[in-house]
Amino acid sequence: MCEIFPLETDRLRLRAWRDDDLPAFAALNADPRVMRYFPAPLSSTQSDALADKIRLFMQQHGWGLWALEVKGGAPFIGFVGLAIPADDLPCSPCVEIGWRLAAAHWGKGYASEAAEAALHYAFEHLNLAEVVSFTADANQPSRRVMERIGMTSKGESFLHPRLPQGHPLQKHVLYRLGQQLWREQQC
Ligand SMILES: CC(C)(COP(=O)(O)OP(=O)(O)OC[C@H]1O[C@@H](n2cnc3c(N)ncnc32)[C@H](O)[C@@H]1OP(=O)(O)O)[C@@H](O)C(=O)NCCC(=O)NCCS
Repeated sequence: MCEIFPLETDRLRLRAWRDDDLPAFAALNADPRVMRYFPAPLSSTQSDALADKIRLFMQQHGWGLWALEVKGGAPFIGFVGLAIPADDLPCSPCVEIGWRLAAAHWGKGYASEAAEAALHYAFEHLNLAEVVSFTADANQPSRRVMERIGMTSKGESFLHPRLPQGHPLQKHVLYRLGQQLWREQQC
């Protein structure tokens, strides 16, 4: 068991998950707008199971997909953070950065602000050489976050191994950011 390392930005707290986050997490996972670029919305049982998996990873590593809280505002709006993809992907072994926010909190820059803090943690504390991100080809909002935080795509794509052949979301685009380029972008 590791102590979970919290992060903070001007407007947000990236913190360990609490049991009382689960209803809000289930609500966002049941929202078809949030799950538009995933195979299907999640039931509350599936949502709780995902939260358990995220929490276990964080307890094992001390970092992960942090629960996101707005300072002086909503106590839980989703997650942003780092994960190790379970599938064998073109970037494997790799650490990915990812995000999922309740729709009421889109369009405020929260995902990008939190992702910048997670990138800082990845490069300064974990000293990773590279962080990747990937999403369904059509997921423009997620691709915009990747670009806003300085990640680039060299046209790399892959067919997601967990989606059936011919599924409209199967094609995923891969973005990368190396530590050296990240450091140059900080200047
Ligand atoms: C992907 C997702 C997190 C993006 O959320 P988002 O709110 O659009 O992203 P950001 O936090 O970067 O906010 C940027 C938007 O806020 C606006 N904004 C408002 N105030 C801002 C501020 N202070 N700083 C920065 N941007 C601000 C920007 O103009 C931008 O809007 P635009 O994209 O229409 O130009 C969100 O769509 C989501 O949770 N989707 C569902 C889950 C998902 O698909 N996850 C990815 C799977 S791989």
